[in-house]
Amino acid sequence: MALIDTAEAVQRLKKNQVVAIPTETVYGLAGRIHSPEALRAIFTTKQRPLFDPLIVHVLDTSQIKDLAQEWPPEIAALTDAFWPGPLTVVVPKSARVNPLISSGLETVALRSPAHPKAREILTQLGEPLAAPSANLFGRTSPTKAEHVLEEFNHAVAVVDGGPCAIGIESTVVRWVSSPSPELQILRPGGVSRAELENHFQQSGFKLKVMQIQTNASPGHLEHHYQPTLPLAVVQGPPTATAKEMVAKQLGVPMDRLWELRLSTDPRLAARELYDQLRHLSSHREGAILFGQPRAWEGPEWEALRDRIQRASTVYIHLNN
Ligand code: TXA
Ligand code: MG
Repeated sequence: MALIDTAEAVQRLKKNQVVAIPTETVYGLAGRIHSPEALRAIFTTKQRPLFDPLIVHVLDTSQIKDLAQEWPPEIAALTDAFWPGPLTVVVPKSARVNPLISSGLETVALRSPAHPKAREILTQLGEPLAAPSANLFGRTSPTKAEHVLEEFNHAVAVVDGGPCAIGIESTVVRWVSSPSPELQILRPGGVSRAELENHFQQSGFKLKVMQIQTNASPGHLEHHYQPTLPLAVVQGPPTATAKEMVAKQLGVPMDRLWELRLSTDPRLAARELYDQLRHLSSHREGAILFGQPRAWEGPEWEALRDRIQRASTVYIHLNN
């Protein structure tokens, strides 16, 4: 199986098949939300456990009526500002949402993708699509069509939409009213915390934006987004001492440490990260080494810090 156009993707989706589609964040493995057959195929293709719920992709808020039980003004303000785009909102679900999508939770995750080809497919199909990232469970998300072909050994058809402009997954948020009004970030991503805070400030809402570390986002596990070669992260530049420590700890020769280098601009670095992890993994032996720059301590690096940490096998803090 290979590359298909959007019309062919829509035909296949109508036949309850799954196809990979481009979004501005990462490629998604899409299926009809009303097709138990397609939903099951998403889980089996990805080898994804059923406890990990799927994001439903909508064209716009006109498609949320049958999905969301409640749509609080705080959420409406966010989707007005950030949709279409890399923001996923978790809201109380309607009884019509297939339990396979929500993994038995009382909530559903919704996002409106900005990529023109994703929007074309949603428009032609006329209904929302469930789509997790198009990778095997626990692995690096695909940011190019060829990544998807490689990941599933050409068993999944892909709509090629070019390299993803954002390159890491959407920010997943939920709003809670008590004990105090709070927007909780369940997974940092394409929309930064600063952007969310600025937005609430400007639109007159008084609430805190908090990054929370719980299992509220069931699939955002400690070890996730992993490349096929082990990734070692050291704080600061990857000095000779750091390299020696990593080589020893992972039991790989020094000359088989492949260094990950990323741009110093967070938006560019996000675009490069998964592609580079895949590229370096193609060495097939050794390990990937990343010297995490001091600048990464800043808030604009929150999502990248999160992904690097979860993708890593060893994370070494050096005292220098
Ligand atoms: O950018 C993205 O979000 C991409 C593109 C394809 O849209 N999708 C994506 O899906 O990253 P996935 O399935 O790989 O990650 C979805 C995350 C998981 O961590 C999942 O646990 C969480 O969203 N999630 C889904 N439904 C949820 C819910 N009802 N409550 C809490 N977390 C939920
Ligand atoms: Mg994923």
